Amino acid sequence: MKLILDTANLDDIRYFNEYYPIAGVTTNPTILATEGGDVVELLKKIREIIGPFKEFHVQLTETKFDGMIAEAEAIVGLLGKNTYIKIPATDEGIKATKFLSSKGYLITTTAVLSSSQAMIASLAGAAYVAPYVSRLENICEDGVAIVADIQAIFDAAKTDTQVLAASFKTVRQVLSVALTGAGAATVSADVMYKLLEHLTTDRSVAMFEEDWKNAFGDVTLGELIAKTSK
Ligand code: G3P
Repeated sequence: MKLILDTANLDDIRYFNEYYPIAGVTTNPTILATEGGDVVELLKKIREIIGPFKEFHVQLTETKFDGMIAEAEAIVGLLGKNTYIKIPATDEGIKATKFLSSKGYLITTTAVLSSSQAMIASLAGAAYVAPYVSRLENICEDGVAIVADIQAIFDAAKTDTQVLAASFKTVRQVLSVALTGAGAATVSADVMYKLLEHLTTDRSVAMFEEDWKNAFGDVTLGELIAKTSK
């Protein structure tokens, strides 16, 4: 399962793009509003940081078909290849998805809250559908089970559409979604850190350092090798 970073914060994007194996960045109007400022410059900067090959998912702000098409063209014109147009799973959204996907645009159907929405989006040509795990759980639905249903529907249909699960609050949710065979998950910087951090790992590393220093002092293994090969 690919991991994508769900933020428009440039410091977080720089950090995770350099250190973590992320496949790209997802944004939405709320995420962009959190950063504020010149949003066009912000989007250009994100593309510059992640480079031309990683996925960049940007959501439409237009809600009617004609405006959606023009805005999608403008976004791809600005951000280039590997830019995915996020379109909510609404009537107008599905109409725009059908049209844009037939022209070769990459569409991520977003704000997906049911398997039936995902099925329609896939038939309309979406490259990804993004079910919202925590938002489902907050309305007493089983978010992970719905992701699993969507994945099963896609597997049965042998479609190319992939699941890009979103709206995560916990590491457990991400792992449960990974077990469904979903193609991708997009997570906040906070959840991304938590996927890796472990107190016992930190303790083990500290112990290795202490044992090494007690035996050999401040020298590193690389320095010792360099000395012997002189
Ligand atoms: O990209 C949008 C999706 O991840 C929503 O997340 O946390 O606002 O429910 P959240």
